[in-house]
Amino acid sequence: MSTAKSALIIGASRGLGLGLVKTLLADGWHVTATVRDPQNAEALKALGKVQIEKLDIDDQQAVIALGQQLKGQVFDLLFVNAGVKGPAVQTPGGATLAEVGQLFFTNAVAPINLAQRLVGQIRQGGVLAFMSSVLGSVTMPDAPDLALYKASKAALNSMTNSFVSQLDGLDLTVLSLHPGWVKTDMGGEGADLDVATSTRGLVDQVNAYTGKGGHHFINYRGETIPW
Ligand SMILES: NC(=O)c1ccc[n+]([C@@H]2O[C@H](COP(=O)([O-])OP(=O)(O)OC[C@H]3O[C@@H](n4cnc5c(N)ncnc54)[C@H](OP(=O)(O)O)[C@@H]3O)[C@@H](O)[C@H]2O)c1
Repeated sequence: MSTAKSALIIGASRGLGLGLVKTLLADGWHVTATVRDPQNAEALKALGKVQIEKLDIDDQQAVIALGQQLKGQVFDLLFVNAGVKGPAVQTPGGATLAEVGQLFFTNAVAPINLAQRLVGQIRQGGVLAFMSSVLGSVTMPDAPDLALYKASKAALNSMTNSFVSQLDGLDLTVLSLHPGWVKTDMGGEGADLDVATSTRGLVDQVNAYTGKGGHHFINYRGETIPW
């Protein structure tokens, strides 16, 4: 019988999600990964050995359908990575209701809705990880140009706190992870880290925190971030 661990990665078409899949495969994990558009997931398909499912996390019917599709599968790790940067202009007066609604729904509400639907499929002792950001810390004044994105990650952390309070009886470790500032479409070319360095660190933290329990806000190096 295989002893390989299994992971479900949400939002794996490119960037950090794709990098997480690569790192986990290299470590011998079985990986199921979701993309919004399977017709446009060449980089993920090229990795082989990945079970690819379709999901837009904003779509409640699609979240329910994914739960049905994956019924019976159990994961050691559910990693909700999908996220967006939001509107180009992030001043309170510069963004529209639709833009702010979209940003907060995708970054803060949809990840928790998905986790609520799939938490029963995480193995006891397993890990539920959310891709947060150090910008989600409300203790660090920073990034006025990304004020709405920053607030959306603080909202994700807060939603995660509320969710964790409802997990009585489940033996899980919940991680709110900061990947570092990473060279992706979102992070840009000027970022500090390449994807492989960040995802190596993130997977190392998943392994290190497995079985610890509780909810932790840490970066890819395992350093605690103040809420
Ligand atoms: N890069 C950084 O420096 C950095 C720092 C801190 C935190 N983060 C966080 O890390 C995560 C990944 O970021 P990244 O840098 O890899 O960004 P990215 O290159 O822009 O990739 C974003 C990923 O999220 C997916 N996605 C977006 N909206 C979605 C939705 N509604 N449903 C399903 N998937 C959706 C995208 O899918 P499509 O290809 O279909 O668009 C893509 O796979 C995000 O949560 C981001 O906020 C990044």
